[in-house]
Amino acid sequence: MGKAKSKSGRTHSQRISVSDNLKRAAAERAAELVTDGMRLGLGTGSTAAHFVAALGERVRGGLKVVGVPTSEATRDQAQREGIPLSTLDETPDLDLTVDGADELDDDLRLIKGGGGALLREKIVASASQRMIVIADGSKHVARLGRFPLPIEVVPFGLTATERAIVRLLDSLSMSGELHLRHAPDGAAYVTDGGHFILDAHLERIDKPNVLASTLNNIPGVVEHGLFLGLATGAILATGDGLVELGQL
Ligand code: A5P
Repeated sequence: MGKAKSKSGRTHSQRISVSDNLKRAAAERAAELVTDGMRLGLGTGSTAAHFVAALGERVRGGLKVVGVPTSEATRDQAQREGIPLSTLDETPDLDLTVDGADELDDDLRLIKGGGGALLREKIVASASQRMIVIADGSKHVARLGRFPLPIEVVPFGLTATERAIVRLLDSLSMSGELHLRHAPDGAAYVTDGGHFILDAHLERIDKPNVLASTLNNIPGVVEHGLFLGLATGAILATGDGLVELGQL
């Protein structure tokens, strides 16, 4: 039996590898922007992993940097790559963070957290002078919200927090289901910080600033995946080449 093909004539595994090549291209361009002495925030996810690999190659070639990872997974990879690491407590001011995104719009507003690392990612990005997003072009959208918005919550009082979020969405005339994220083994997904994630299927977010600030007022919400005013530039890899947004 032949492999299923899409309208483009590509099989599923070919599409994954095309997308992976685009992610790598964006990541390698970002790695070229790193200079000696930089204190770097290291993002999380498959695109950020390409950046960590490209950075590792430059470090083995003599580049001197120090990295602050945004997840245990990135810490493990960076260690294997031989990248000198620090913590945000030892190195609280960073020059540049390079990270992926689940969605970004023309104003460099992002949805992040599909990989579950949004809390550390946001803390690290906020401690950086610059944040460059690397992504394949499919992440670039006219309006945020098609990708479910991750909301990190404390396990205590989960149902009450969930209800408070639903009430908030109602008050903003937004609708959509909240799904507790699960790990592959079927148990509730637990973040590096020991929290749960509710994925809000909103389809469209017309006023990201209002949603972001009001979500932060709900006790039990630790953080959400709207990254507003944090990214300073983006490198998007498309079939036609690299597209740059903002300042690199
Ligand atoms: C991790 O928590 C996320 O914010 C990732 O940066 C985001 O999900 C993008 O991941 P990929 O690079 O794997 O698409």
